[in-house]
Amino acid sequence: MKKKTSRVSGFYKLDRKERLKKVGEFANLKDEDINAMEKGLSLELAERMVENVISTLKIPLGIGVNFLINDRDYLIPMAIEESSVIAAASNAAKICRKTGGFRASSTEPIMIGQIQLISKNPEKAREVILRNKSRILEIANEQDPTLLGLGGGALDLEVRILKTRKGRMVISHLLVDVRDAMGANIVNTMAEAVSPFMEEITGGKTFLRIVSNFSTKRLARAEVTVSKEEVGGEEVVDGIIKAYEFAASDPYRAVTHNKGVMNGISAIVLATGNDTRAVEAGAHAYAARNGKYQPLTSWKMDGDGNLNGRIELPLAVGIVGGATMNPTARVALKILGVKTASELAEVMASVGLAQNLAALKALASEGIQRGHMSLHAKNIAMMAGAKGKEIDRIAEILVKEKNIRVNRAKELLGVKK
Ligand code: MEV
Repeated sequence: MKKKTSRVSGFYKLDRKERLKKVGEFANLKDEDINAMEKGLSLELAERMVENVISTLKIPLGIGVNFLINDRDYLIPMAIEESSVIAAASNAAKICRKTGGFRASSTEPIMIGQIQLISKNPEKAREVILRNKSRILEIANEQDPTLLGLGGGALDLEVRILKTRKGRMVISHLLVDVRDAMGANIVNTMAEAVSPFMEEITGGKTFLRIVSNFSTKRLARAEVTVSKEEVGGEEVVDGIIKAYEFAASDPYRAVTHNKGVMNGISAIVLATGNDTRAVEAGAHAYAARNGKYQPLTSWKMDGDGNLNGRIELPLAVGIVGGATMNPTARVALKILGVKTASELAEVMASVGLAQNLAALKALASEGIQRGHMSLHAKNIAMMAGAKGKEIDRIAEILVKEKNIRVNRAKELLGVKK
């Protein structure tokens, strides 16, 4: 059997149906999956997902190609409204696969549930809670026998005393291995379930019982080494490292640097029906975990003058439950072919690193506007009425003339103004 590869050249030149067919062959999609991709989210299902529905908003869903992660080929579904992101990720993945692609890893999928308890004697309350840890974990685990059967469940409890302007509070962290779920639901259920017992044993009162989106125990990492030739030479390698050092020293730059990282990550989070807000909030908090907002990636030159990059961030994403039930998201997960939520997080981290590489490589050499402009020119050509092959021809002239305007496109098309 022919080995499956995500290395596809000229994918962008195919028409949409041909692309979908190719992806279908790669991921063994069934007719019903292809139909789901064609149809998108129905209004009927949308009404079951959220309140007060009047419509659905469509976002382009494209495929990032060329990704090789832990020796496996992946096609990456990316839902995003911004042009150039998918092309940039695919390009970076192409140059990364020449040196073996990405190496990614992750921690166990452990989420944190917070329980806020107010007690007259916080030290005593803390001690009593810790003494009753095993009963508390038992109550938590009674909430989800299925999770337990899958090898997950509440594992541990950490308790600290927090000084606030409203006095001292006892904050407990319930650590739950949520396996393949994003986990917010189960963690919230467990936190609510254990709080009456915690009140009973401490004589205190619980207030908030909710998941923390700062999921510092659920991290994903990726690393890549790219040859200096592939990056564009020693000067570009040096430029990328200087760009990283700029971000490492300046939050104004670090935020934009991380925005580029999240272009890739949030696009997969959205495509797979995961919670973009949870991932974004966690990622940015992680970037500031040492008290100063820092880049989520780092770049250095190795002994041979090649470029080495790393990324680490919390990624609370699931492959079961929640909005992953969206039919398009289900097919997106099939295209990825990930077997676990951890594998999904590893893919996301790799794509974030690729996206950052693409941005820094462009910024350190030609700037990003050229790539942006050619797509913009295509849009302008279409706005002027260009169809089919005309679109590329007109766009090329507009870019060459550095005059990307609808009026000029109309002139070139011979359209009367
Ligand atoms: C644009 O969406 C993202 C970039 O600004 C990221 C960066 O500057 O690193 C190109």
